Amino acid sequence: MAADKALASSPGSLDARLTQRLKDLRAADLYRSLSAPHGIDLCSNDYLGLSQHPTLKSRMAAAVEAEGTGSTGSRLLRGERTCFSHVEQSFAAFKQTERSLYFSSGYLANVAVLTTFAEAGDVIFSDELNHASLIDGARLSRAEKVVFPHNDAAALERLLAEHERTGQSPGQRFVVVESLFSMDGDEAPLVDYAALCQKHGAALIVDEAHAVGIYGERGSGLIEARGITNDVFVSINTAGKALGVAGAFVAGSENAIEYLIQRGRPFIFSTAPPPATAAALEASLEVMEKAPERRLRLLTRAGQLRARLGLPGNSQIIPVILGDNERALIVAKALQAEGFDVRAIRPPTVPAGTARLRITVNQGLSKIALDRFADALDAAMLDHAVKADTRS
Ligand SMILES: Cc1ncc(COP(=O)(O)O)c(C=O)c1O
Repeated sequence: MAADKALASSPGSLDARLTQRLKDLRAADLYRSLSAPHGIDLCSNDYLGLSQHPTLKSRMAAAVEAEGTGSTGSRLLRGERTCFSHVEQSFAAFKQTERSLYFSSGYLANVAVLTTFAEAGDVIFSDELNHASLIDGARLSRAEKVVFPHNDAAALERLLAEHERTGQSPGQRFVVVESLFSMDGDEAPLVDYAALCQKHGAALIVDEAHAVGIYGERGSGLIEARGITNDVFVSINTAGKALGVAGAFVAGSENAIEYLIQRGRPFIFSTAPPPATAAALEASLEVMEKAPERRLRLLTRAGQLRARLGLPGNSQIIPVILGDNERALIVAKALQAEGFDVRAIRPPTVPAGTARLRITVNQGLSKIALDRFADALDAAMLDHAVKADTRS
């Protein structure tokens, strides 16, 4: 017995466990491999093509020359630089909030927001399709979690009312959603949520990862587009997608941001991002303001591809749901062989049984390239006898 116990906790048995787990992943077609970009980009989040923009590149290179490669410490110690506060002011102005705070990733920003503002006795109402970083943030917080059906404002209202009626968890309520869902490309009913939050005294937290830079008159996101800026407690805006660089901004009131600086563990206990990313983001904001045609072209191209594929909706994220993991892999591979960089998305990124191709459009794609891609997709689906199911 004692010998069994020793074996179970020996490094050798841990290795055996990992080997078995990896084998299980392969058997379920859930094994991932790292693969650099190849072919025409139909899967990145570089929606506006800013990661390759000459102004961003030169400003980033100049900042590396001036500031060095790393920030050398946390923001509250020697890692602070004026370029961080400058870009935070610029981003807050862009988002029309009092203040913003720059994090080194969207994942970190989401964990910071949920673990800092939500306390024991509070309740987080979270859309069932929220991104892993929101799920993990909610899990790490000490608040109660209530998951509501995707984009279902009526169900959310029932749950909020039920909580009020039963007097459970009398603390602060938070409603947490993505504005444009990352794997489905559909939009949250933000106006309904804003009204519900007002009625029930809940704080609305919106992850604008896939909307910032694209939607709204000024391109600041769906919060702007739907006119609910004053109804949102904080938004999280990743800077590694349409903004073309890295990191994320949390935008909100003076008080909320100051509290994050004072109490947000992922902010306090992590090295500040490289200063050059802040310099590149300053350029990104300038380019977005001067070149609105990039976001207009993106949405035109997305509309053209959707129309060609006969899919409703209008966002730049187009899911083609294939269901089965193996099927998704086979169809993705067939498209890759034709020169299109499309990747299969499988659980746990999406719910079991909804493996898919997540096709993303970027503003640099020509209509001809999109038509060629649509032909290749039709052929691959036919070859592999797949009936596409779409949700958007
Ligand atoms: C909705 C959403 N939130 C947050 C993140 C995390 O952002 P980052 O990649 O900057 O860590 C992502 C990234 O994929 C996302 O899709």
